[in-house]
This record gives sequence, structure tokens and C-alpha cells, in this order.
Amino acid sequence: MRTRLTDLFGMRLPVMGGGLMWLSDARYVAALARAGALGFLTPRSFDSLDSFRAALRDCRAASEGRPFGVNITQSRRPEENRLVPVWIDVGLEEGAMAFETVGPSPRELFERIHAGGGRVIHKCAFVAHALKAQDAGADAVALVGCEAGGHPGTNELPTFVLAALALAQLRVPMALGGGIGSGRQIAAALALGADAVVMGTRFLVCEEIWAHENYKNHLVAQPAETSTLALRSTGHPWRVLDNDTARRTRAMESEGACSYPHFGALSTGRLGREGAYATGDWNSGLLSMGPAVAFADRIEPVAAVLERLMHDAATCAAHLSALTCPATHPISPTPLS
Ligand SMILES: Cc1cc2nc3c(=O)[nH]c(=O)nc-3n(C[C@H](O)[C@H](O)[C@H](O)COP(=O)(O)O)c2cc1C
Repeated sequence: MRTRLTDLFGMRLPVMGGGLMWLSDARYVAALARAGALGFLTPRSFDSLDSFRAALRDCRAASEGRPFGVNITQSRRPEENRLVPVWIDVGLEEGAMAFETVGPSPRELFERIHAGGGRVIHKCAFVAHALKAQDAGADAVALVGCEAGGHPGTNELPTFVLAALALAQLRVPMALGGGIGSGRQIAAALALGADAVVMGTRFLVCEEIWAHENYKNHLVAQPAETSTLALRSTGHPWRVLDNDTARRTRAMESEGACSYPHFGALSTGRLGREGAYATGDWNSGLLSMGPAVAFADRIEPVAAVLERLMHDAATCAAHLSALTCPATHPISPTPLS
């Protein structure tokens, strides 16, 4: 499938694996690249600039010439963004040409990426922010609805509504994310006019994700309803797995907690990394995850997931053709894998 985004970034499939804090390492991002999708290393997951650089080198070697990228998630606290320009420069030096930016979208950020030969897709949750990024020079935007795992922002619009509104106004190519985990949804996003999808949750159970097998086995058994919005009272909600930690934060909110410091260690990502990801204790930590977990039905390689998804997307696309041109295509139910 060829779209404006596959042309822009040079991947084979209209699929992006959005940056995953602690989990988007060289092995996972390179697996996405080899399978034809585009993934993004998350510099904040590395304990030093040297280890980030080493991961970029490993990723480049394992990507076999396919494109890969870097996620630049900007913090609300300026002091935590000190290294943003360095991450961009190191990424460019080590062969990453795709950048997924999140947060503010000043022109200088995009100019720095362009000056080094890179291309940028700015991810956001509001159409107004996407238009602002477009005006500031982003090559593309990714819109994510409130179903998205992680920090979906404060917009409560679901993915489908957001997409239709955004596509009517945007000039640059657009990826669509939030709750997408099946081939049916990929076909629907492309039918709407999106140039790619961006997924996170669906890939959490892939073999190449380093998280503990017990955690992945737990996710495989979860229905969509197990995704919940934590820390709403802070104004910066976090879409996570409903577990003991999420329930404890809810209890604290009912007693008046309403800012991240009130929740102490419970609201830190490290708790999840050291608990669920490292040991498999899925009750430990707020663990980014959206309702697309319901589509994550088995632990298998990234390539196998993408093959099934794209097969199902193509089947749905054929079904759509049959509806619009019934004389040449028989109309039948769409049996998916
Ligand atoms: C475990 C996990 C960690 C994430 N970490 C980040 C991150 O560090 N930066 C970022 O821009 N997005 C992050 N996201 C969001 C994803 O990149 C992507 O936008 C989102 O998962 C898409 O929605 P979905 O989960 O419904 O597929 C994370 C998502 C998950 C599930």
C-alpha cells in the first residue's frame, strides 16, 4: 500500500509504531523496520546519551537499511527538555531520519530536524494543535483520539470523530491513532483518508518487546474494558491497565489528591518498568495501555502481527470496493484471519 506517508518516510506499510516509553528499544524498532513499518526509539528510556547512541547504532545495523526514527516527547517542565536538541542531533548522526515529536511545536524544532536531513511527524490530540504544527513546518501530523494508550492529552474526542474533522482541514499527510489494533480499523482509517495508522498498545505483546512474559500473558487475556483513564484530577490523564496501582490512585483522588506529587512513587513510570515490565507483576505501576489490547490475542513476532493486520486490511478494502462497484465484485461477508 502506497500513501503520502509511505513515500515521505520510505516504509513499505502505512503503519507506525508510536514511541513506547521504556519499551521502544533497538530490537523492537528494528523489528518494525524489517517488517515494513516505522518505529521510534525513545531517548528518555536510556540512562545516558552514550547508551542512547549505542541503541541507535544497534537499531541501524538490525534494520537492514529500512527507515527508523526517534520519538521526541517534550515535557511540561522546561528543565527536562534540555537534551531535546542533543537527542535530535545524535539521532541524525546515527542514521535516524524520522522524528515523532510530541508537545509544543515551535518552528525551530522542525528546522533543526530538517537542517540535518530528517523529516518530522508531530503527534497531538487536538486538530488546532495539528494545524499549528503544519503551519510551523511539520512534514506530517499524527492525530490520536482519547482511546490512545499512554498520555492521550485532554481532548475527549474519540479517534473516528477526530479523524474526520482533521482530514477536512489538513494539508499535510496525517496518521491516525488511538484504539487501533485490527486490520478492519486500518482499512477504515485509510478509507477515511488517513495516510497511515499509529499504534502502540497492539504491539505490547510482541516477542521483540522486552517486557516480562507474565505481563504479556496477562495482557493477552484482557478485554478492551480493562483500559482505564488514571489521574484525571491532575489535568494530565494517563490511559493505563486497570490494576491495583490504578485503583489506589483512584482511591487517593476520591480523598482529594489532584497533582502528580500527591501520588508520589505511584505516578512514576519507573514503578512500572521495575515492576510489571521487569518482573511480570502486572499490579505494579501505572502501565500505559489502551482498549486495543483486546486485539492483542497472542505473543508472536512483530512481522506476524503486521502480516495478519495487513491481510485483514486488504480483505476489508476489497469488501469496500465490492460495495461501491457491486457489478464487478460479488458482495460477501469479510472473513478475517
Ligand atoms: C506502553 C506505552 C508507552 C508509551 N510511551 C510513549 C512515549 O514515551 N511517547 C509518546 O509520544 N507516546 C507514547 N505512547 C503512545 C504511543 O506512541 C501511541 O501514540 C499510542 O499507543 C497509540 O494509541 P494505542 O495505544 O491505542 O495504539 C505510549 C503508549 C504505550 C502503550
